Amino acid sequence: MDLFSEIENPEREELRALRRELEEQNYKYYVLNAPTMSDREFDEKMHRLQALEAQYPDMFDASSPTQHVGSDSGNTYTNIVVFNNEKPKSKAFEQVKHRYPMLSLANSYSREEIEEWVRKLPAGVEIVCELKYDGLSISLWYEKGVLVKALTRGDGQQGDNVIENIKTIPSVPWRIEREDVPEWFELRGEVLLPWERFEALNREREEQEEPLFANPRNAASGTLKLQDPREVARRGLDAYLYYMLGENLPGTTHYERLETAKAWGFHISDAIKVCHSVDEVMAYIAYWDTERKNLPVATDGIVLKVNNLAQQEELGYTAKTPRWAIAYKFPAEKQLTLLREITYQVGRTGVVTPVANLEPVQLSGTMVQRATLHNEDFIRQLDIRPGDRVWVEKGGEIIPKIVGRADRNDEMSATASLNDGMMYSFPTTCPECGTPLVRVEGEAAWRCPNEAGCPPQLKGKIEHFVSRKAMNIDGLGAETIDLLYQKGLLHNIADIYDLKLEDIAAQERLGEKSAQNILDGIEASKQVPWARVLFALGIRMVGETTAKKIARRYNTIDSLQWATTEQLCGIEDVGPQIADNIVAYFSDMGNMEILDRLRRAGLQMEGEAAPEPTSDALAGQTIVISGTFSQHSRDEYKALIEANGGKNAGSISKKTSFVLAGENMGPEKRKKAESLGIPLVSEEEFLERITL
Ligand code: IVH
Repeated sequence: MDLFSEIENPEREELRALRRELEEQNYKYYVLNAPTMSDREFDEKMHRLQALEAQYPDMFDASSPTQHVGSDSGNTYTNIVVFNNEKPKSKAFEQVKHRYPMLSLANSYSREEIEEWVRKLPAGVEIVCELKYDGLSISLWYEKGVLVKALTRGDGQQGDNVIENIKTIPSVPWRIEREDVPEWFELRGEVLLPWERFEALNREREEQEEPLFANPRNAASGTLKLQDPREVARRGLDAYLYYMLGENLPGTTHYERLETAKAWGFHISDAIKVCHSVDEVMAYIAYWDTERKNLPVATDGIVLKVNNLAQQEELGYTAKTPRWAIAYKFPAEKQLTLLREITYQVGRTGVVTPVANLEPVQLSGTMVQRATLHNEDFIRQLDIRPGDRVWVEKGGEIIPKIVGRADRNDEMSATASLNDGMMYSFPTTCPECGTPLVRVEGEAAWRCPNEAGCPPQLKGKIEHFVSRKAMNIDGLGAETIDLLYQKGLLHNIADIYDLKLEDIAAQERLGEKSAQNILDGIEASKQVPWARVLFALGIRMVGETTAKKIARRYNTIDSLQWATTEQLCGIEDVGPQIADNIVAYFSDMGNMEILDRLRRAGLQMEGEAAPEPTSDALAGQTIVISGTFSQHSRDEYKALIEANGGKNAGSISKKTSFVLAGENMGPEKRKKAESLGIPLVSEEEFLERITL
């Protein structure tokens, strides 16, 4: 068979495309739990593929989707262990020795040193300038064009195989269908969480009262080590590749290899430039020093690499770094400034955050005068007092933060500390309402417990209630809420529905037109579905997704109101803490009054398609579904579990009551169930159990 007839034959092309498509669908279905194709369409495509494979036996491939059943573990997707809702356990990842150790780069913050390095290179060498991406290094192994491993740096000698998580990145090809792909090659690059995704993730975590990620790098690192690829996929990682390794690879320069990788479909930065002189290199650095701020991902420097591979080899390596490359690091955006005063900010949930009020200072293009001091322990550890000169940093973080204090004897610290010798003490009462603060054991934060009377908490709850993902009441922004609060017209979320046109229109800056707008928004909010109403109530730790899950199980507020902690824990994603918060919310008389008013105002407090448990045959049981089934679909089984009072979980743990095991259950799952002594229940037996 000659090459050309193969390329020209559209059926062969179709065969390859089908394999790719079905392989991806299997992954989406079994691993991500989010198929994008109907079962029928899948079956039709599978049949077509089988027919084509029969017609072209020379194209047999043992890894074709026709040769195995998709699985959420085992054969196709090796080493995936899904531990839903559990802390990452790195030991669950396969440890793999790197073929080539993963070295780091020599780096410098000084442009002079970089100039020096370039000048010392043999005359006439070409230098490739690239951005230095601030994420996590990854090494992708391709065998016969198929992605077979994705290793983290680890200790440089061996890393974790995080292939299942890497496969969630749309720009990483799983398979390269080209004749010119070598038998084996490795591409290295950086895994990143784009700024936009990072900010969205943090907003979500804030809502759920989970600790925020300090910067996209930390967020990417946490994400890459998650055991649940569905969650990884949801977060939206990206990868930029910048180094190809292997034997007998095409090309004689680094740049050519990256171009080749680009042609094979890899995500290679457009910012790469071949430079021929010190001046060109310095111009590149100067340009990207500012331009990098417009990029969708974080960068922290520039990497210079000798282009010619033979010259690279001549220059060689030190024990830790190549001699043919160097990184220029952008100076950390950090400034020393005077701490004038520490004030305290009370959030929606009552957390009191100490805020540094600073002498204004220019930082990454913006004037900074306030920065977070995190919490009491941080201030004590650094012994920070008003009058000190402090380091303020605005790196990857959204909110500037204090990272240190100048030595008080230092010349820089001209102003003596205002209260020298006095130990810092955190306020004991709420700066806003005077209520004694409480500190929950094991938490760093102090909280004001006066939920029903503390102004920023009240206003914060209203802001949350009207926000886009909650009741979405247009026109009622933080300023207006504050104004109406000051005037005594708005004290809690129920007051919103008592607002009159003339009340609003009478306020400064609010004419009749905007008042009518607000009222229209309020009216429209009465159609917002029950799940979002539940989220809008602002019950601690009940975020958007959790609210949806709760609303599905409890389709009326009345049923939810009487739910016990134990029953609530039966809902996916609801643990004892969240359950306790819900129970506490409904035991508060003030809340009950507000709910009553909201109900009378006409809010949706009932959902439609929420299946109430029809039996309690599975009450208190946590069930994992695995394999393929003949009588019902996976989703139907999920619904059946819930309808019978059970809880569906994604992964096997000590808490699993049994595994609903279909055909072709993944070997990893089977092993795990066996090792924990968890029974496997067949489809037939399961159906018998619930019809009892
Ligand atoms: S080349 C042997 N190029 O920086 C040279 N590294 O401090 C291999 N990095 O471990 C690295 N952007 O994680 C290279 N354009 C780029 C890079 C880059 C970011 C990271 C990489 C490396 C670290 C070294």
